[in-house]
Amino acid sequence: MSNPLEDLAALFQEQRPFEVLAQEFCAYLRKTFSHYNWVGIYMLEGGDTLVLKAWDGPAATEHVRIPIGQGICGLAARENRTVVVDDVNRDPRYLQCFLHTRSEIVVPIFARGRLVGEIDIDGDRVAAYNDADRALLEWCAQKLGVYAPDHPGC
Ligand code: SME
Repeated sequence: MSNPLEDLAALFQEQRPFEVLAQEFCAYLRKTFSHYNWVGIYMLEGGDTLVLKAWDGPAATEHVRIPIGQGICGLAARENRTVVVDDVNRDPRYLQCFLHTRSEIVVPIFARGRLVGEIDIDGDRVAAYNDADRALLEWCAQKLGVYAPDHPGC
């Protein structure tokens, strides 16, 4: 029987275009973890804008392009760190996508030491994400960074 870490390790080993991998990754996380209600991957383009490249969830987001510095996504990108928001209704920096979202985790993806994108996950309950989620997603981000395109936007 496989476990999520083994499944993810296998997923990261298959050779295919980054956007295909990103899409499979989002779908796998959402179907496997019930508290991952919306999963997306944004990639940095033009040095200042996060562009949504893959997502899985009940609905599309209007925030397909997010300037660095805006929202929780833009904060994580500007500060090059994972950001966890336990209650989005109490954080004025939050850019709302879905009325039912209560918490969010954003994990930067680095390639060759530079920020190239991020994993963004929304949860439907307050404080959905703990240190185990952070550790899992930072491990995933490290793997994704290995496959990230050299020239984002190509
Ligand atoms: N809530 C994010 C915007 C992206 S959506 O969650 C998909 C933010 O505050 O940056």
